[in-house]
Amino acid sequence: MKQVELRERFAPIVMTAEEFRAAGHRLVDRIAEFLDTVQTRPVTPNEPPHVVRAALGDGPLPAQGAPPQELLDQAATLLFEHSVLSAHPRFWGYIYSSAAPIGALGDFLAAAVNPNVGAWNLSPVASEIEAQTVRWIAELIGYPTDCGGLLVSGGNMANFVPFLVACKVKADWDASREGLRAPAGRLLRIYCSAETHTWIHKAADLFGMGMDAIRWIGADADLRMDTAELRGRIAEDRTRGDLPFIVVGAAGSVSTGAVDPLPELAAIAREQGLWFHVDGAYGAIAAALPDASADLRGLALADSVAVDPHKWLYAPVEAGCALVRNRGDLFKTFSHRPPYYHFPEHEGEESVNYFEHGMQNSRGFRALKVWLALRQVGREGYVRMVADDVRLAQALYRIAQEDPELEAITQGLSITTFRYVPRGLKAGSQGTEEYLNKLNEELMTRLQAGGETFVTNAVIRGKFVLRACFVNFHSTLADVEALPGIVTRIGAEVDKEWRRSAGL
Ligand SMILES: Cc1ncc(COP(=O)(O)O)c(C=O)c1O
Repeated sequence: MKQVELRERFAPIVMTAEEFRAAGHRLVDRIAEFLDTVQTRPVTPNEPPHVVRAALGDGPLPAQGAPPQELLDQAATLLFEHSVLSAHPRFWGYIYSSAAPIGALGDFLAAAVNPNVGAWNLSPVASEIEAQTVRWIAELIGYPTDCGGLLVSGGNMANFVPFLVACKVKADWDASREGLRAPAGRLLRIYCSAETHTWIHKAADLFGMGMDAIRWIGADADLRMDTAELRGRIAEDRTRGDLPFIVVGAAGSVSTGAVDPLPELAAIAREQGLWFHVDGAYGAIAAALPDASADLRGLALADSVAVDPHKWLYAPVEAGCALVRNRGDLFKTFSHRPPYYHFPEHEGEESVNYFEHGMQNSRGFRALKVWLALRQVGREGYVRMVADDVRLAQALYRIAQEDPELEAITQGLSITTFRYVPRGLKAGSQGTEEYLNKLNEELMTRLQAGGETFVTNAVIRGKFVLRACFVNFHSTLADVEALPGIVTRIGAEVDKEWRRSAGL
């Protein structure tokens, strides 16, 4: 390459203000149009990987570049046409919310200014906005606002951070130096309900205690942790010489939205000297509702809580939030100061360097999109949207109860589970249950491929059931009322095909 003087540098990645403005305006126009018409598109494109790859093209890395506006145009078309649309009013899969439009603009602004929210001095106002966001989330759910906390990538990380803090705080040896394996072969023990989200597998595995350290506590008829069994298991483990260290409660389980008896779990943990962590990744925000149960409000008693703004605060992915009652515990767990970091202190004033409060070093400005949405709608706006999601889930449960071809199974927070049972089929016998499980599994696959709606599944007491989770401010009662018709039509098709091929 020819060497040129760098007095006037040509960097091919630069966009002039004019180019930026033109490309940005056009992109914003296209996004506005997409969001405005999303309900006219199929919820899923239902394309196999080779079709998506063909749309993308498989050329080599370009040697030379192309005009940004053209590229943004192509990228927008690709994304609009080959994506699963969580912004569609009939998207109710997993716990995956439609994204607040202000969040998209917030991410755009955050990326443009590009603060590194690892250190206060690299991100003065962004660090303060993050601290305020953490306080507001705590305030919204009734958790002490002087807690520690930070924004992370999602629910898994929002649970991992406090989990690691709990290990360090509860270890009676120097776990930072010696590692998380207890001396003398003693085993650390984790207690959680059998309904706990799979983050717990990863946490036990990643932090070195191994998945066998998990004590899966059975659930009651409402799929809430059985506290008598919990007490029994802790006592047994202590007798064996193990080291119980954490009780994990659910503020909204992933399958059914069940809320564990959190005040009782808090009391057991306190009496046993264990850390009490609440996984509120999904349901913690519902503690803001005026009619929230005492069980749910019990999250206020926890040593730590995981919240997931990219679920029920409708933030675009990624945004999780870890809250830890004693902020010093975060610092003790994560602070390492290498000689090449010199971040000045501010005499007599607190300034948080977030790299010392969590797992990341360089950090993006995730808080902005959450902070903007909190300011756009306020507490009342969130209470209204979350309450409406719950009401839609309850409406679906009632509709399923009344439909002769549907069996309503559970209803908790904004999750409803149900299954299709063809007319004339009497559920109960082993053969029929096996048939219904297969039928509903195939039905779910076809629903997801069909593009009319998107629901996922749960397995409840051996039954494969369809599961709709409402964290979608676009959905209305009309969308919910359409669901049973779609389910029973496609369910009947599968049933008919299968009976025909079985010669029935
Ligand atoms: C209760 C619960 N905890 C944790 C998670 C993990 O969250 P994420 O997918 O954001 O990591 C989920 C996801 O659905 C969840 O429902």
